[in-house]
Amino acid sequence: MKYTNKFKNIIEEKYNNYQEDERFNRKSQSFEFRTTMHYIQKYLKKGSKILEIGAGTGRYSIALAKMGYNVTAVELVENNLNVLRENAKGLDNLKSYQGDALNLQFEDNSFDLVLCLGPMYHLFNKKDKKRAISETIRVCKPKGICMFAYLTHSSIVWAYGVRKGSLRNLAYALNKDGSIKDVPEEIFSSFFIEDFAKQFEKTNTTFLKNVATDGLAPIMRDYIDDGKMSDEDFELLYKIHLATCERLDHQGYSSHMLYICKKN
Ligand SMILES: C[S@@+](CC[C@H](N)C(=O)[O-])C[C@H]1O[C@@H](n2cnc3c(N)ncnc32)[C@H](O)[C@@H]1O
Repeated sequence: MKYTNKFKNIIEEKYNNYQEDERFNRKSQSFEFRTTMHYIQKYLKKGSKILEIGAGTGRYSIALAKMGYNVTAVELVENNLNVLRENAKGLDNLKSYQGDALNLQFEDNSFDLVLCLGPMYHLFNKKDKKRAISETIRVCKPKGICMFAYLTHSSIVWAYGVRKGSLRNLAYALNKDGSIKDVPEEIFSSFFIEDFAKQFEKTNTTFLKNVATDGLAPIMRDYIDDGKMSDEDFELLYKIHLATCERLDHQGYSSHMLYICKKN
């Protein structure tokens, strides 16, 4: 039975007014891309078949296709998909489709690595979140790897609210425990780390890792991106980040997290 995404219009409107292709252009943003690629490569095997769900303009899919992997990219928003197709010209090993994380058009057990790097940011109720997780797992082969990117509540408060001076606007969406309510019009959905993990309790998966993919970089971005940090210091900072990004100390304040599990 077809499962409908009630929020497609809101997501489309956001991305039609946003330069998604520039998402990793700032030095501080490169932490997330480099760290995610580092962990993807850790689990790839020769000949792995990869699916990226919510591929945006194709930053990960294209990088992986250029490495020679057979990649399938699915994206909800037509404008993003058009940019992806333009960026991917000449890459015959990258196939792209319009599609929805809630209703994947692939057979069960089709891919060795399934990347869900985006849809979890834009799901606004428990049922849809559960559905995106079960669809991702469904299309992954047994013993294959699933990776889910998600946002932390603290990223909304510290990296967004404080930096943009809009804490007061957040007040109406705050729960007593400091979590942020899902408000579709606000476009981003966020989690406490333990709540994200709880969603996998009854799934056919084994937890492998939780990675803080950008750590404090978004919060410190005014210092990282102001042009004063030398390349040497920047690389040292990235090296420290990569060495510590699996530690609990860093996870709560990371804006982006990566939950990695294996399908049993
Ligand atoms: C922040 S972007 C991330 C793009 C890319 N995966 C990356 O990490 O750079 C999130 C992407 O997920 C897409 N998306 C959101 N909800 C989706 C859904 N239900 N199914 C498929 N794609 C979705 C958005 O249109 C957007 O292109």
